[in-house]
Formats: sequence, structure tokens, C-alpha cells
Amino acid sequence: MDPKDLFGKVLSAIEDHHRWFNSSLPMIASENVTSPSVRRALVSDFGHRYAEGWVGERVYAGTKYIDLVESLAMDLIKDLYNVKYADVRPISGVVANLSIYTAFTQPGDTIMALPITKGGHISMGPLKGSKGQFIGGTAGAVRGLDVKYIAFDDENMNIDVDKTISRMEKNKPKLIMLGGSVILFPQPVKEIVEAAKSLGALVNYDGAHVAGLIAGGQFQDPMAEGSDTMSFSTHKTFFGPQHGAVITNDEEKFELIKKANFPGLLSNHHLNAVAALAIAAAEMKAFGKEYAKAVVDNAKALAQALHDEGFKVVAEHLGFTESHQVLLDVDEIGGGYKCEKLLEEANIIVNRNLLPWDIKRGRSFKDPGGLRLGVSELTRLGMGKDEMRRVAELYRKVLLDKKDPKEVAREVSEFRKGFQTVKYAFEEGLAYEH
Ligand SMILES: Cc1ncc(COP(=O)(O)O)c(C=O)c1O
Repeated sequence: MDPKDLFGKVLSAIEDHHRWFNSSLPMIASENVTSPSVRRALVSDFGHRYAEGWVGERVYAGTKYIDLVESLAMDLIKDLYNVKYADVRPISGVVANLSIYTAFTQPGDTIMALPITKGGHISMGPLKGSKGQFIGGTAGAVRGLDVKYIAFDDENMNIDVDKTISRMEKNKPKLIMLGGSVILFPQPVKEIVEAAKSLGALVNYDGAHVAGLIAGGQFQDPMAEGSDTMSFSTHKTFFGPQHGAVITNDEEKFELIKKANFPGLLSNHHLNAVAALAIAAAEMKAFGKEYAKAVVDNAKALAQALHDEGFKVVAEHLGFTESHQVLLDVDEIGGGYKCEKLLEEANIIVNRNLLPWDIKRGRSFKDPGGLRLGVSELTRLGMGKDEMRRVAELYRKVLLDKKDPKEVAREVSEFRKGFQTVKYAFEEGLAYEH
């Protein structure tokens, strides 16, 4: 292909994508949209530079402004989470988890985490499943850890404390990974920390999903509940960019985390993203409380509205959700794969997801029985509870009334016209520029 054609094709695909997302409802729970200021940092010259190592101890010259910005990013993160130490170098949530494994475990050690079927993330997963099938989770496949599972109570959509503690006593893990990818409710962090202490195990809370809600004071604070460390990505309920971080209050543990990140896992650590993270953290400090409250209010409102429209919303008896996520059980209306595709045709972007009871009823990750909806991005675009009712109606039209998704896409597009800019930011601007 002519390189110039290729160049044109890439640019026009990016523009098409922006146009599409400008007229869609982006509801992937692990995503969010960044402010114009965060995007400005992302395209800055910081992205062309190297600054291996720690601030003040760089292996490269030319880093005085980079050092200043990285120090600000660390200070802001420490302030937001009220902790003593922060490493903002992990380039993603997976790398943040890997830095925890590298710092505190050796290949062959046992750790415990939730299985993916019950909300765990692939980065906490084993190499192989119980039947010897390949899973390839980061903990097992990359660090060589033996992963045993935390017990989950499907009815309460939460960790089963008693069963988990007895599994901890049996398996003697070095590390317990809390948090997860499907997380509707605060977990029993205090109880697990207490049991872990008596067994000499460490607890890391993976706050990838709820980091912004924690910073905004709207979700459990795992560090205040005694977690040794918290790893997280910075772009789901946090204001972006795609990056990671680790925090702790323990100096010795922090030294191990620092070494794990450099020279262990990272050479350069994407300095433009560190600058963007500093700005996002400042936005969190200024607007996080208000934003996180709006996110949780919106998730609750959406869950209730979907229930009222006739959907099977998970955890009705528990008030549906206390996070940014809502889970739908769509087993009886075509399954996750089909529903995801129909919604996508209607410009509603969500992802299919395993529900805790899916394996028992013969479903698999390819066509699970659930949809995981997130409201972080719609909230950042300025939507509130009234809009959540409108969103639920649009879901009903596609999935229950079986209207032509293309027709609904036009309605979605019209509806989105009123929500084109990023809110909770120092500089408001178009969400998806083209
Ligand atoms: C609980 C959890 N941990 C880690 C990650 C990985 O984060 P990243 O995509 O930033 O590597 C995710 C991603 O969705 C997640 O849900």
C-alpha cells in the first residue's frame, strides 16, 4: 500500500472513531474520557524523553522539568489517598500489580485472589485452571505464582469472609489481592487484613476500578482499613490518562516497590503520562468529591431505571450498586454477546461480562450471561439522574422492545448532542476532538 494512502486511512479512521464516539453512549466500566488539559500533557514533548530511575537520581540528563512534574504527581497522589509514599511510574494497572508481585513474592509462592468469573482480573490469574486448561493470568504466567482463590458469596455479590479465612489458613499465601474488575460493593478489607496479619501475609488492594471513587471519598478507603499497599490504574473512575500507580504507608515496602519498578519492570515510564496524571490528580483534588458522588448516584439511578424498564438487574436486594458499575443478567434475552452487539449497533458501547453463576449455567466468557455497565464517562460528560432514566429507555428499546438498533442509534446521537464537553475540569472542551 502507498504509505501516503495508509497515512490518510489512519487519520480518517481516527476521525471516524471520534465522530462515532461523539454520538454514542460510552459505557465501558473500565474507561473514561480525559480533559483537554490532560490531553495537552499527553502530546507534550515529555513523551519523547527518557528519565529512568527516581527523581533526583536519574540516569539521563535534561530532566529538571520532568522531575518537577513527577514530584508534583507523587505529592498529589499522596495527598489524595492520605498516604506517605506513592510510585507513579507503573505504566498501567497490570504493571502496578506486577510491581507488587515482584516486590513481595518469589516464583512458586502462593497468593490469593478472586477468580475472573467472580470479579477478579486476569492480572491476578493463574497460569492454568483447575482442569489444567490454559488461563495465562499475569500472576501465574509471568511471575510463576500459585494462585488460590478467595471465596465469593454469589448471593451477597461479595467476598465470603469465613470461607476465605479458612482457605488462607490452609494455603498460607504470601499475598492477598483484593479489589477487582467487577465490584459493586465495598469488600471486607478490615477482616481480611486482620486474618492476613495473623498469618504473616500481605494485603494489596487493586483499586483499578474504584480509584477515583476512593479519591472522591465515595467508596471504602482500603488504606485506612489496613491494606499494606494499593495498586491501581488511573483511567477508570480516576480522570486518566491510561497509566498506573502504587501507594503505601510503609517505608521498607516502598523501597521494594521502587526497586521492582526500576530497574525491575520499567526502563522509561512514559513521562507524558506522568505529566497528564499530575493534571488529572489536580482535577481530582478540585472536583473529585463532587464527581465521585455524581458517579455513584448515577449508577444507582441507572440500575433502578433499568429495573423499572423490566431488566434483570443484579443485586436488587442489596440496592444494586455502590460503585460506578451496574450488572445486567441478560441470559434470558439472548445472552451477553448478542446484547453487546445489538447495543453497539445502537451506538451504546458496553461490554459483555461473566456473572458469578454463569459457569454453573453453562455459559462461558465468549458468550457470558451478563453485561457490565459503567457510568463514569457519561457522568464526566455532564449527565445526571434524569439522563440515566433516558439511557435506560434506550436500552429497553434495543433489548426488550427489539426496535431496529439503527433507529435507536439516531435517537442516541440526538441525545448526545447536549453532552459534548468534558466537565469536572479546569478547562472544559470537546470530549472527542476531530
Ligand atoms: C482490577 C483490575 N486490575 C488491573 C487492571 C489492568 O489495568 P490496565 O488496563 O491499566 O493495565 C484492570 C483493567 O481493567 C482491572 O480491572
